[in-house]
Amino acid sequence: MKQYNNSPMKTTAIAPANIAFVKYWGKRDEKLRLPLNSSLSMNLSNAHTTTTVAFSKTLKKDVINAINDSFSHDEQKRISTHLDRIRKLAGSTMHARVATKNNFPKSAGIASSASGFAALTVVAAHVLGLQLSKKELSILARQGSGSASRSIPDGFVLWEKGSKRNGSDSYAHSLYPATYWDIYDIVVVVQSTAKLTSSHGGMKQVRTSPKLQNRLSQIETTITRMKKALRDKNFAAFGELLEKDCLSMHAVMQSQKPSLEYWTSETHAIMDAVKNMRKDGLPVYFTIDAGPNVHVIVEEKHKSAVVTQLKKIKGIKMMLINKPAKGARVIDKHLF
Ligand code: PMV
Repeated sequence: MKQYNNSPMKTTAIAPANIAFVKYWGKRDEKLRLPLNSSLSMNLSNAHTTTTVAFSKTLKKDVINAINDSFSHDEQKRISTHLDRIRKLAGSTMHARVATKNNFPKSAGIASSASGFAALTVVAAHVLGLQLSKKELSILARQGSGSASRSIPDGFVLWEKGSKRNGSDSYAHSLYPATYWDIYDIVVVVQSTAKLTSSHGGMKQVRTSPKLQNRLSQIETTITRMKKALRDKNFAAFGELLEKDCLSMHAVMQSQKPSLEYWTSETHAIMDAVKNMRKDGLPVYFTIDAGPNVHVIVEEKHKSAVVTQLKKIKGIKMMLINKPAKGARVIDKHLF
């Protein structure tokens, strides 16, 4: 632990966003954020949140600052509620000064809540002197944002849905380290403003979809097959499962009441371009979270050919090129 001036202790952590290869959509417990299904993801090297926290006896409330961005009242409240969970565990009543910075646009389907709550969990637990295992950190991060549980372990990650009511077996663990497979996630950003319906809000209506049960009945098989494709580094098998699961989640979203449609004409154009590249012999696949941006997944050897093709599409704001990354960790460079 580090001392800041005389009394407040200050620590910083960095956490990656992650892209789900088999997606999480729907909760069985809202409060504990327990998922209806297990999910599988990869941490992203070039989409991360850095968060510095200092606790102080003199602060009357949490002071939360989003650098180069802003938090709504509800977002500030969600962060303070998460700090309360960690304060409770540590037996602390001190308030915190928090500064946080994303290197990518928030709330645009690039899992900023995943990196944000993973970084906050690791930094606050560390600064309050809690000695938690990765499993405990993942369980804690999950309560801030479900997908944040997957940004704690390294590389390629499985979040087990668990079966216990208290959520003590619903956590993420690493399947393979970041160095395991040289695949890239090119996040093609077509919109960098906040989405209209958050994942949390959208998931609340999941049971209105007539397609949910079908998706849930297949998902364990999808995960088993995805694990096998990863084990064998079988990119074609992996890619087919990736797109199938993405389309299955979006079919549930679109058939919910009210219908959730996150795609724009640019989203469709990129999906079409990916399919066309495949027809031309380039092994490349897409997946999309709760937003219009498209994650284009490709092996290292085909990356530059794919980037060249993607650059030709109209309406693209930027591309974030990611390798698999380590999970959340404490670092020395502070934001204040
Ligand atoms: O944990 P949340 O509320 O950010 O939900 C994430 C949901 C999806 O991004 C759509 C899918 C996933 O598994 O990441």
